[in-house]
Amino acid sequence: MHPIVLKNVGKTYKLDAVDIPALIDINLEIRGNCFTVISGPSGSGKTTLLNLMGCLDRPDQGEILIAGQPVKDLSDDALSDFRARNLGFIFQNFNLLPVLTAYENVEYPLLLAQVPAKVRRDRVRSLLDAVGLSDKAGHRPGQLSGGQRQRVAIARALSPEPKVVFADEPTANLDSETGSAIIALMRRIQRDHHVSFIFSSHDPKVMLQADDSMQIRDGRIISVERGAAAEGSA
Ligand SMILES: Nc1ncnc2c1ncn2[C@@H]1O[C@H](COP(=O)(O)OP(=O)(O)OP(=O)(O)O)[C@@H](O)[C@H]1O
Ligand SMILES: [Mg+2]
Repeated sequence: MHPIVLKNVGKTYKLDAVDIPALIDINLEIRGNCFTVISGPSGSGKTTLLNLMGCLDRPDQGEILIAGQPVKDLSDDALSDFRARNLGFIFQNFNLLPVLTAYENVEYPLLLAQVPAKVRRDRVRSLLDAVGLSDKAGHRPGQLSGGQRQRVAIARALSPEPKVVFADEPTANLDSETGSAIIALMRRIQRDHHVSFIFSSHDPKVMLQADDSMQIRDGRIISVERGAAAEGSA
């Protein structure tokens, strides 16, 4: 129940006095409690769009509302607080902390949020179990395979119980079989935890799993296909 609405959103990068329009007049609604995929060729604006929706960057034009809240009304501090409480991120290179074990990586956001020890322990264990890594809890990222690291990153993104999870090309670095297993896992978690997942991907396996899929070309949304409404979606 946490739709994201973009109204006339534009983003232009400035590079050596040259304007690079990365997103042009985007009007879009991302339904809550759904699995949404954004696809398009390299350079079309997918990462830029995810960064704006994830409040990691701000638009130059237009506005973004998350669960009815206009993002631009929030100060930088309020925005990082909002992000920490509501949004999760799975980055393409996983961004795990190399000196921490799988367990500690998943626990880390909970320490920052000052979640009590027992709640932390229960949640980390159940997430590692959900991603099938209970037996690797004590391994550091360097002692895990790419698919296992990706699963740690998923568990970490979910540990603060976000309402929306963003993932930029989550299967790009995985072999086809591992990629399918990861997508099936995310699909199950999305349904069980009633979170919204928003992915960028050109992977047909990812697109097949989507409730809604959107295509972007040269900074513009050129098509939106919506599947059957998920239960409780908005
Ligand atoms: N920091 C930046 N400074 C200048 N231009 C940028 C910057 N980041 C992205 N761009 C440009 O903005 C456009 C959109 O880039 P973006 O990274 O959003 O594309 P993408 O769809 O994610 O591509 P890919 O599939 O290759 O990851 C591109 O033309 C890119 O060159
Ligand atoms: Mg990208």
